[in-house]
Amino acid sequence: MQHNPDASNELFGDLSHILFTREQIADRVARLGRQISEDYAGQQLVLINILKGGIVFLADLMRSITIPHSFDVIGASSYRGGTSTTGKVIITKDVELDLRGRNILLVEDILDTGHTLSVVCELLKIQEPASFEICCLLNKKRPRNFKTPIKYVGFDIPDEFVVGYGLDYRERYRNIGCVGVLKPEVYQ
Ligand code: IMP
Ligand code: MG
Repeated sequence: MQHNPDASNELFGDLSHILFTREQIADRVARLGRQISEDYAGQQLVLINILKGGIVFLADLMRSITIPHSFDVIGASSYRGGTSTTGKVIITKDVELDLRGRNILLVEDILDTGHTLSVVCELLKIQEPASFEICCLLNKKRPRNFKTPIKYVGFDIPDEFVVGYGLDYRERYRNIGCVGVLKPEVYQ
């Protein structure tokens, strides 16, 4: 069996199974970076990341983008410690860069109900960017009201609660390098 570097993480045993290994994620992120570099060649690109779950994805994605770009972060929270959304999104930190006339690519870890993205999209579009697109690492296959097309999707996943690669359950599991499904008994 291949050595799994995440197996030594103290919380690894809380996963019921792995959805994507470090290698699979690295490969997908590299391909996303190449595509984004081609699509935005010669343009002023600004990546906007939604805290906190998206920072691991951002850190890898920006290093696989080969064109000059800047980034900023926006704080948004809809989960109040559980595994399902409250539907209420709180902006905890606004962006600092001037986004007017720039090409914004919103970088998000996971699209679930879409509540977070719809609030953040509204807020950013007020700044009148030249273009606005979304890049999401994980897209949960579930019905939702959020209809804005996602230009770049890493992986489609089943409607299950996942952790790792920046994603948390009660602020833990972010430092697991793979993405896996959390055992239901951990949160039940
Ligand atoms: P939405 O507003 O329902 O689309 O949820 C978006 C936010 O909820 C994401 O940015 C995550 O921070 C969090 N979230 C949604 N699904 C999961 C999950 O399966 N695991 C961990 N966090 C999640
Ligand atoms: Mg998040």
